[in-house]
Amino acid sequence: MAFFAHQIRRGFSSSAVRNVVIKQVTIIGGGQMGAGIAQVAASTGHSVTLVDTSDDILKKSIKTIEGSLKRVVKKKFADKPEAGEEFIQKVLKNVSTSTDVGSAVQGSDLVLEAIVENLKIKQDLFSRLDKLAPAHTIFASNTSSLPISDISSATNRLDRFGGLHFFNPVPMMKLVEVIGTSTTSQETFDSLLNFSKVLGKTPVSCKDTPGFIVNRLFVPYLYEAIRLYERGHGSKEDIDIAMKLGVGYPMGPFELSDYIGLDTIKFIMDGWREMDPDNTLFAPSELMDKLVAEGKLGKKTGEGFYKYKWKLN
Ligand SMILES: NC(=O)c1ccc[n+]([C@@H]2O[C@H](COP(=O)([O-])OP(=O)(O)OC[C@H]3O[C@@H](n4cnc5c(N)ncnc54)[C@H](O)[C@@H]3O)[C@@H](O)[C@H]2O)c1
Repeated sequence: MAFFAHQIRRGFSSSAVRNVVIKQVTIIGGGQMGAGIAQVAASTGHSVTLVDTSDDILKKSIKTIEGSLKRVVKKKFADKPEAGEEFIQKVLKNVSTSTDVGSAVQGSDLVLEAIVENLKIKQDLFSRLDKLAPAHTIFASNTSSLPISDISSATNRLDRFGGLHFFNPVPMMKLVEVIGTSTTSQETFDSLLNFSKVLGKTPVSCKDTPGFIVNRLFVPYLYEAIRLYERGHGSKEDIDIAMKLGVGYPMGPFELSDYIGLDTIKFIMDGWREMDPDNTLFAPSELMDKLVAEGKLGKKTGEGFYKYKWKLN
């Protein structure tokens, strides 16, 4: 990790953070990702406060966590249902909820943000949190596509700010991308790396570049499959079959795009193109633009590249 150490910008004190052992975690955003991260952190003995904009949303988050824990327990405690129930209660005890960020960050070692993917909204949140959280608290974002340094620029704790990019569904997916910006201190980076390990995940170190590692390779791959089809190189069905049987991927790129949501993929690509317009990897696709404009977003709307008999929601 020497790479990040020499990048610490002069003038930013990292004295407030000396190998912070993360015990108390505040997670802002109780959606798909936030609830999953809360579950994993609580399951590994952390004290978690989950924050969202309303009690109704937070009730749903807790229900999601409970449902997911039941599935975990069915496998892990197949022969000991009582021990399984005990485990669920113990984990749920580690999670509290709040709609008040100010009180939620008190005593927190790490504030992890998993709210809507919008730079201005994330900046506003962190700017407020910067004034409310204790000095030692590390901030991290779970953003998939925004530069961490753009988000951290709204705060005065650039040395105590990094990225922790989890994958969906969080309880199942082993990977965490740990992102250090040019101002993230070595102590902060190490704390985030250690935290990921304590969660039972496998962390990889990433630079603060578009898409980090996984999405940087994955999103252009999906787009290139679409452009291949647009240019008439193969049918959607054949491209899907080719990648499944030729590479061993469980889903082809068109099936996978429909599953993720075309709007999500296009949003990521559009953002990167804005940052780096001349990069041919980030070139648009007419077909993708047309489908999204027509509201054909994939499984969730009943139609994307393929038609579906049912909708996700
Ligand atoms: N869904 C994925 O597969 C995935 C994977 C990795 C990273 N991410 C990233 O994680 C973040 C969250 O994604 P998600 O899929 O969980 O979204 P989501 O829509 O399921 O959840 C977002 C939650 O944040 C809440 N929220 C919005 N603004 C808030 C605020 N100011 N304060 C408190 N709560 C607020 C919303 O009410 C909602 O419950 C995004 O940055 C996304 O890019 C998503």
